[in-house]
Amino acid sequence: MSTQTLSPEHHASIEAVGTLFADSGFGTPEVFGVAPGRVNVIGEHIDYNGGLVLPAAIDRWVHVAIRRREDDLVRLVSAQAPGKLVEFSASEELAPEGKSWGNYVKGVVAGLKRAGFAVPGFEAAVISTVPVGGGLSSSAALEAVFGKVILELIGEEMDDLALAKLCQKAEHDFAGVPCGLMDQAAVILCEEGKLLMLDCVDDSFQHAPFEDPDWGLLIINSCVSHELSDGGYAVRRDGCHAAAKILGVGTLREINPAKLEEALKHPELTEDMQRYVRHAVTEIARTLETVEALGERDYARAGELLNASHVSLRDDYRVSCPELDFIAELAQSQEGVAGCRMTGGGFGGSAIALVRRDCVESLSRLIEQRYEAEFGIEPKIFETRPMGGARAWKA
Ligand code: GLA
Repeated sequence: MSTQTLSPEHHASIEAVGTLFADSGFGTPEVFGVAPGRVNVIGEHIDYNGGLVLPAAIDRWVHVAIRRREDDLVRLVSAQAPGKLVEFSASEELAPEGKSWGNYVKGVVAGLKRAGFAVPGFEAAVISTVPVGGGLSSSAALEAVFGKVILELIGEEMDDLALAKLCQKAEHDFAGVPCGLMDQAAVILCEEGKLLMLDCVDDSFQHAPFEDPDWGLLIINSCVSHELSDGGYAVRRDGCHAAAKILGVGTLREINPAKLEEALKHPELTEDMQRYVRHAVTEIARTLETVEALGERDYARAGELLNASHVSLRDDYRVSCPELDFIAELAQSQEGVAGCRMTGGGFGGSAIALVRRDCVESLSRLIEQRYEAEFGIEPKIFETRPMGGARAWKA
């Protein structure tokens, strides 16, 4: 791709990241790259249970400028951490250090080396508008954009799904989050105007058009975050896998929803496991039904399914929080809102609402006022439409 196909906002960000690059003493960039954040419409906490998930790339981005060095030193700067230089050697045995954002880049470099690519030293500058801790995959976007720019820099290519898996491993090994494949797949594989239907049984995927002049996706960032690496995510993932084993299935996808109640009676399932299984099995069914409803533009039905997903995540999976419950309940009761639910890993982050476009402004103002009055925090609300995935190009 070339800069010609970039939107005016991208042009401005590319210019800004080029300036940050030059101001950091790195000279002139050789390659630029961009990756979006993602929002999940429905299919929560089922990517590691063999489910179908339905994310979209959003209109928030990580932009990167990069240049090869003659030695093996990697030097990184970010507008989000001004004045702090992250440094490591591309040729050493790489391991994560502390909570630095540079760990994500290290994880990707380690993955590319493992895949057989010779990764040289480089200098890179980063500017991101994907909110950190917003449940919108800022880390997957960072991993993906570095995968893309490094490959472009060294003149190599890699299959997009393989790159998504490489980035997922970086998240596991360098950020300590045993995530599924959804986020990394979404930020790489998404196409403009379409939702990604990723079937985690075999990682096959399709793109489903989602463009309607009258209906949009509203993202409401609660601006509270409880990190996934705190353990709540891993506990649930392990619980689901242990339950699948007890029930004698490869993944919870294999449990027929009509036989769910019977399955839940298994004496070896703990009370927690029963709740996890109920969430996973019903969420898998809801997602399949949402794909159909959206295909038929039956927004009322799709909205009901989103609302039911929120209840299941709140009561059975227990990954919501008072702030997200407040937002979802408030939005659901408003005119023009088909449905609203927490989205992403949970424990804070964002909610997503399927909203009639003519109601977006009034709904946003109402949520801002009521949420701030209740919690003393200003939420960040924006409309998005499905965007294209990560890419890189020569400067
Ligand atoms: C996080 C993980 C994903 C997925 C979601 C929940 O975003 O990274 O793999 O499990 O939580 O749906």
